[in-house]
Amino acid sequence: MPRILFVCLGNICRSPSAQVVFEALLRIRNLDTDVVVDSAGTSDYHIGEPPCALMQDAARQRGYEMAHLRARQIEPGDFARFDYIFAMDRANLADLLWMAPLEHRSKVRLFLEHAPELGEDVPDPYYGEGGGPDQVLDIIEEGAMALLTHLLQTELCP
Ligand code: 4NP
Repeated sequence: MPRILFVCLGNICRSPSAQVVFEALLRIRNLDTDVVVDSAGTSDYHIGEPPCALMQDAARQRGYEMAHLRARQIEPGDFARFDYIFAMDRANLADLLWMAPLEHRSKVRLFLEHAPELGEDVPDPYYGEGGGPDQVLDIIEEGAMALLTHLLQTELCP
């Protein structure tokens, strides 16, 4: 069973959004019991906190519920536990590559790797980048779709 981890800095905006969006895509395809999805932050800034309210509200408007999630920091065991570790931006990618044991480093990729037209980084809404939660969700939805399409072609059984 493939295990997928989405990682941003705080685990309160982008990576929990990617988690619920990706879970919803899997559910539509009846793949939700075949794939484990989780999210984490590279920092310890918001451990135990729910996703930020602005992001929750924007997500709920689109039918994604995030209130049950709580932020956690990535831990060493995650690099062995997960098959794919997707960084939401290049700073997260650099941090993860620095943390990852050599044998697991190839699992660490950019979330938008398969949607190059969207750029490389999911903007950080916490710092007001990218025009706000709705624009960030637009990118995450498109990126998640591109990622699932790639995984279906390569790994997951449709
Ligand atoms: P996230 O957003 O990485 O998408 O969860 C952030 C949340 C908190 C902080 C930075 C980014 N912070 O510096 O506290």
